[in-house]
Amino acid sequence: MKKLFLSAVTAFFMVSAYAQTDVNMGIIPAPVSVQKGSGSFVFDKSVVLLSNNPKNAKIAETLQSFAATKGLNLKIVKAATATQKVIELTSVGANQLPDEGYQIKITSNKIKLIGKDAGLFYALQSFMQLMPDKKHVGAISVSNVEINDYPRFSYRGLHLDVGRHFFPLSFIKKYIDVMATYKLNNFHWHLTEDQGWRIEIKKYPKLTEIGSSRNGTIIGVFPGSGGTDNEVYKGYYTQAEAKEIVAYAAARYINVIPEIELPGHGSAAIAAYPQLSSFPDRDTPIKEGAPWSGPRTGKQVQQTWGVFDDIFVPSEYTFEFLQNVLDEVIAIFPSKYIHIGGDEAPKKYWKESEFCQQLIKEKGLKDEHELQSYFIQRIEKYLNGKGRSIIGWDEILEGGLAPNATVMSWRGEKGGIEAAKQSHDVLMTPSTNGLYFDHKQSLAEDEPLTIGRNGKGVSNFAKVYNYNPVPDVLNEEQKKYIKGVQANLWTEYIETPSKVEYMIFPRVFALSEIAWTPLAKKDLKNFSEERLSLHLARLDKTGTNFWVPMPIGQPEGEVKGEDHVITLQTPITGAKIFYTLDGFRPSENAAEYTAPLKINVPQGKKKVLKTIVITPSGKRSVVAETVLNNGAAEVKVK
Ligand code: ACM
Repeated sequence: MKKLFLSAVTAFFMVSAYAQTDVNMGIIPAPVSVQKGSGSFVFDKSVVLLSNNPKNAKIAETLQSFAATKGLNLKIVKAATATQKVIELTSVGANQLPDEGYQIKITSNKIKLIGKDAGLFYALQSFMQLMPDKKHVGAISVSNVEINDYPRFSYRGLHLDVGRHFFPLSFIKKYIDVMATYKLNNFHWHLTEDQGWRIEIKKYPKLTEIGSSRNGTIIGVFPGSGGTDNEVYKGYYTQAEAKEIVAYAAARYINVIPEIELPGHGSAAIAAYPQLSSFPDRDTPIKEGAPWSGPRTGKQVQQTWGVFDDIFVPSEYTFEFLQNVLDEVIAIFPSKYIHIGGDEAPKKYWKESEFCQQLIKEKGLKDEHELQSYFIQRIEKYLNGKGRSIIGWDEILEGGLAPNATVMSWRGEKGGIEAAKQSHDVLMTPSTNGLYFDHKQSLAEDEPLTIGRNGKGVSNFAKVYNYNPVPDVLNEEQKKYIKGVQANLWTEYIETPSKVEYMIFPRVFALSEIAWTPLAKKDLKNFSEERLSLHLARLDKTGTNFWVPMPIGQPEGEVKGEDHVITLQTPITGAKIFYTLDGFRPSENAAEYTAPLKINVPQGKKKVLKTIVITPSGKRSVVAETVLNNGAAEVKVK
């Protein structure tokens, strides 16, 4: 009993001191430099918050509210006495720091957060992360340390597709909060799609009256054969709501980049204004119950996923329409960048259209790819004239890049490499390197429906972490065009905020680190074994969903041999591991892992170790399997 009590006490202190013992003080993304001193700053009731620059008042208030959640009542003061223990927020000296950079200096009498604007905001984020989790005035202390930090990339992005599924404003704010905590600074809001136009445009009310509503949603996988659910699915953001998001993001040093897709993925707009199509009158209805492999060109807000042939025609009507739309968009979004899509625009309709063929001749263009380039360049010129710049998916390279375009490389890194060689700015978001967060996180059968079947495109946090956005094939000059990295969340199979959370966590932590932390500090072991567990444990307490990692130390696949010792570690502070060796699925009723497993496998036999991780709030990992094989026939393992 006594022993049990003692180990419980030890565990309590280990958990609370966890962040402090880590070389990175538990911070994600890992800072550039963390130098620990001896001693610590002990919080007592006398500690005050010193902040005398009105520009920093909001950050002071946020810190005050945060401290209150720890039971600390911090008074904000403009001056402190020499003997008073203080947390000081200051911008003095911040001009010497790199862009968005900050310092945290903790000594026994003083905590100093130094930075200006985003820099001070990021100092606050790091400071909140290094504070112990427990609430215990008089018992909270932080190790003395000096942290110097600044980002590797100026662009650190996260995307959300609200076309396939619509998410409420409250959730968009939560998404932005996550970005802010992890120092991501560009929210790419994918607002228009074949399956829904989601932003109010006052000059074209049918875009939302018609374009924001579809009559059903495909059931199960695409192409599939389950038909649609025949239920109306709709939603859009008013301009006032979009402005609210822009302001909410700006207060957290996040820029919102709207995406208005052209010339493809425009079915919803075409359904509202058929003049935008090469064939306003052509309508090939989609057959009820069809497997969706035939023509899918119905002029409707689409009910299935994939790519549709009916794209915007490059007519004067279309250009005027798009310019009017963009006028309203730029009035809402102050972002320097406007994303104009450009991906997945089939050329079938343009090939069949007399108008398009005539235009190709008139403009002296070679083919439909050059016609797309002509389309994009006209839009770019218009937006450049308004002081804005375009970002396009890497298809905008085909037929010639628009002169000032930034390329978002998604079909691998090839487009990004080519664009950098052509001296264009590049944002890396390759689906092949783990940055498509709509891909599944493991091959286990427990995973929910996601895009990419038959094992294609599995991406776990380690794959994301291992990605370096700057390709080795570029020379030093070309490498400078890689401005940053982003992960994308397409939502064909993501219907709810909870599933969004499941898909982004913990991968978004890895994204944050590859976007911020210098390459030389990359350390998957420290990330996954010291810090991930702490951050996931925090999410577990706040009712946020996430993908629960498998036990640390469990070998993947098959391990050969007779005698095995398997040492596991929980991937989440406070979570438990349960296991079986009898072929049954583990649950909380299986054996709990408490000490290294010593497993003997007789000659010619195999045993399967199956584990599950269950968090304090009851979240469960997928079942992870390791086959221990001592001369039995080869087995295929997940
Ligand atoms: C894309 O994933 N179609 C950019």
